[in-house]
Amino acid sequence: MTVLLVSRSATHHGGHDAIHRLAAATAEATGLPVRACFLDGAAPSLHAALEAVPDHDEVLLVAVHVPPDRYLDTWIRRAVAHWRTTCARPVRIAVTTPLATQNALVTAIAEAIAGQHTELTGNPGPFRSPAWSQITRHHRHVLICRGPRCTAYGANEVAATLGTRLHEHRLDDDILVTPTGCLFPCNLGPLVVVHPDDIWYEQVDAELAVRIADEHLRDGAPVDAQQPRRS
Ligand code: FES
Repeated sequence: MTVLLVSRSATHHGGHDAIHRLAAATAEATGLPVRACFLDGAAPSLHAALEAVPDHDEVLLVAVHVPPDRYLDTWIRRAVAHWRTTCARPVRIAVTTPLATQNALVTAIAEAIAGQHTELTGNPGPFRSPAWSQITRHHRHVLICRGPRCTAYGANEVAATLGTRLHEHRLDDDILVTPTGCLFPCNLGPLVVVHPDDIWYEQVDAELAVRIADEHLRDGAPVDAQQPRRS
């Protein structure tokens, strides 16, 4: 059996590494293959992790979120159902009860309370800085949807490809790239939106991401762009 710790994207630095370390520690404690994956916003996606499970293996999913995240619990089920439509292998997949409802977590918190404490003194860093009042001088703003459906359709690879390409073109300061949650037209994902041009690229793959970086963001010529379908 393979265990997958499924989490959501962490907004703080090191959050994703922490989930991977938790998976490694759990593997050591249980002797089972345990991997970390993400519903949205980070790699590897749940789809990619399921894809990597060996043939004939069973999968147990653990939603890693405290307190329980109904969005994560609901979307794990949707993502697995969608993944099954893309995979011919008959894989048995189950899910545990949410961690926050398990007594072992109460025990762990009680042990932490009874254990060693670190007093918080001093100031580890400034809360404000003059630099954080400056709006960046970028020429274009690129939104990359990292919501659960776009992630399932390959947004992680799109984001990585676009980021690498822009770095190679030395456009990091010129182009502001922002990962977003769901932008709503999920059926058209993965979505990349370029402003102020108001160009919505649909079903972006790595190849189109390279063209967006080269032709639109570097050379200023949108790639066979379609206007957004607005109702
Ligand atoms: S998940 Fe990308 S538009 Fe909904």
